[in-house]
Amino acid sequence: MPLAPATDDPALETLFLPLASGAVAWPSAAGGTLFLRARAGAALDAAQRRDLACEQTFKPWADALAASGQRVVDAQPGCFERVLVLAPRQRMESRALLARAVAQAAAGGVVLACAANNEGARSMCDDLARLAGPLHALSKRHCRVCWTAPLGEGVDRALIQEWQALDAPRRIGGGRFLSRPGLFAWDRIDAASALLASCLPPDLAGRCADLGAGFGYLSSEVLSRCPGITALDLYEAEARALALARDNLAASSVPVGFHWHDVTTGLPQAYDVIVSNPPFHQGRADEPMLGLAFIAAAQAALRPGGRFWLVANRHLPYEAALSKGFAQVHTVREDAGFKVIEAIKESGK
Ligand SMILES: C[S@@+](CC[C@H](N)C(=O)[O-])C[C@H]1O[C@@H](n2cnc3c(N)ncnc32)[C@H](O)[C@@H]1O
Repeated sequence: MPLAPATDDPALETLFLPLASGAVAWPSAAGGTLFLRARAGAALDAAQRRDLACEQTFKPWADALAASGQRVVDAQPGCFERVLVLAPRQRMESRALLARAVAQAAAGGVVLACAANNEGARSMCDDLARLAGPLHALSKRHCRVCWTAPLGEGVDRALIQEWQALDAPRRIGGGRFLSRPGLFAWDRIDAASALLASCLPPDLAGRCADLGAGFGYLSSEVLSRCPGITALDLYEAEARALALARDNLAASSVPVGFHWHDVTTGLPQAYDVIVSNPPFHQGRADEPMLGLAFIAAAQAALRPGGRFWLVANRHLPYEAALSKGFAQVHTVREDAGFKVIEAIKESGK
């Protein structure tokens, strides 16, 4: 079962306040609004829902938008009367997105952006003001929405150009991987993934899946450490990460599949080996449910005798689920606050 998206979304609710109150008018023409990092759940009428072109690169949220009848689009060119932004927490990524929002606002258009106070709302408003001049703002439910005056002369075109490049892909890990700001552990090899990689036994063999593959570090380690792997599938919900994983694994000598996929919905085929450093939070709070859904997906997709290798923060309560779903479970290593576990599915089940 996919995990249900959050029904209460204070940042989304706050973003739409200026439009709901009439402080900012809805666009006069249909199709006049671009919504960047859109999420489902805004209280909109049918015409407004149709009017919004929603971009979302995180699969569970893109699916929720489509399920709610909103129009989900790929990176949308052109200019819009209104550009709405749910700003991400990472500052370079946020600046690049705000710069793009201002660049895609038509002359006389308005950009509205919102973030939670504890996720950089103040800096987001400062950044938008640097790009577009004095702002209006209001706060509600620990979130802040700010919006520009109708855009014209005050826009800083040079800064737009500079900031749009801030989240461009770049080499990390001594040049071995392409990554970009905003991805999980974007500027380094994650310590937990590195620990899992160092424990992988060379005899892992057959068809393998990497759940929550990010930009492809763990997959790349599987291929270099386990010569018996005959095919590899990467499952990742964030399209910005998956696109880079394609580059990072381009030289692979075995067939590699790249799937923009919500792992909590299960996997479409069976595997001999599954590796994962599962996500354990969405937003700020730890959500063991996410890791548990990954464990259930792995258990269901492994062939009899299949091997599941995962790493997790030591405090996360995964053991009960693992013992229930697998014939053998053992902790291979505990180090630096993480645990590496191998779980083997019963033969003949
Ligand atoms: C802890 S990171 C591990 C990344 C990568 N494997 C590494 O070793 O650096 C977890 C990854 O799971 C992805 N993710 C989060 N929710 C997901 C979901 N429902 N389905 C698939 N991937 C998801 C995140 O985007 C993130 O890249």
